[in-house]
Amino acid sequence: MVSKLRILVVDPIHIKLRNYIEENFTVTVKHPITQQELIQCINKYDILILRSGAQVDSELLSHGKNLRAIIRAGTGTDNIDLQALYNAKILFYNTPNTNSRAVAELSIGLMHCLFRHIKRASNEIETNIWNKKSLMGFELTNKKLGLIGFGSIGQEIANIAKGYNMLVSCTVAHYSTKRAADMNTKNITLFNHLEELMAFNDILVVCCPYTNSTKNLINKDNLCYLNPTSILINVARGGVVSEQDLYHSLINKNIYGAASDVFEHERKISPLFTLNNFIGTPHIGAMTNESQEKIADLIIQFLKREFSD
Ligand code: MLT
Repeated sequence: MVSKLRILVVDPIHIKLRNYIEENFTVTVKHPITQQELIQCINKYDILILRSGAQVDSELLSHGKNLRAIIRAGTGTDNIDLQALYNAKILFYNTPNTNSRAVAELSIGLMHCLFRHIKRASNEIETNIWNKKSLMGFELTNKKLGLIGFGSIGQEIANIAKGYNMLVSCTVAHYSTKRAADMNTKNITLFNHLEELMAFNDILVVCCPYTNSTKNLINKDNLCYLNPTSILINVARGGVVSEQDLYHSLINKNIYGAASDVFEHERKISPLFTLNNFIGTPHIGAMTNESQEKIADLIIQFLKREFSD
């Protein structure tokens, strides 16, 4: 028998997890929720389940007097102050790498959308514009792919890219000649300098974590190395790419196109959305049934382990 602890859910979760918690806990679902609303109600709950829709920081924790666990239904912990959680002796659980495949597949989809102008083609046909000549694009096959970050998402993208016969290269947080040699055996070139990677490739995917050293990592000083037929895709976090600098590169046609699933300020209209050569998606990288089910299974196991009588 599981005790009736009170769970607050502030982001979308898989139905399997929803059913499980509703059977075993007292559940409140509030999403979207503002940080202020969350601060005001958090003292009523024992467990918070979130994704990237809220910040867990010392201010929130100081109001969450009854909190016993924070569950991040996903990988990233950039919205969680882990030190503050540790100090407050609150359990933390997340599900690393469960959505890498989903994010990798979205990245490939965005590459096709940009190179084949799918957004514009779809918009135009709705008003009966059949402008085939202006919709000439590029194939992914044989392109040079540069991955900024080579964690589990980067590795998944590289795996898929093999099927397109792409030439894959990357940068990582800590370059070493040993790592470069290891990657060489897998036919992946490890560049020491980001600018070199950006100048070399046709497709750049930003898939590194958001940290103090990756904040504004992609900005006007390195965007200028991209060539005019290249595309840039951000599936990491808003804030890793300077949106203002990217906007200028796109309107000046210094790059062919860009796509982003993540924004510095989510739920806000960005000037990027007005551009034909930009595609935005609302942080849907992990929104596949498969990855959400994996996440649900892991969280159910965690809840059983920690909160069963
Ligand atoms: C994650 O870090 O797992 C992603 O941001 C996916 C998400 O929670 O939506």
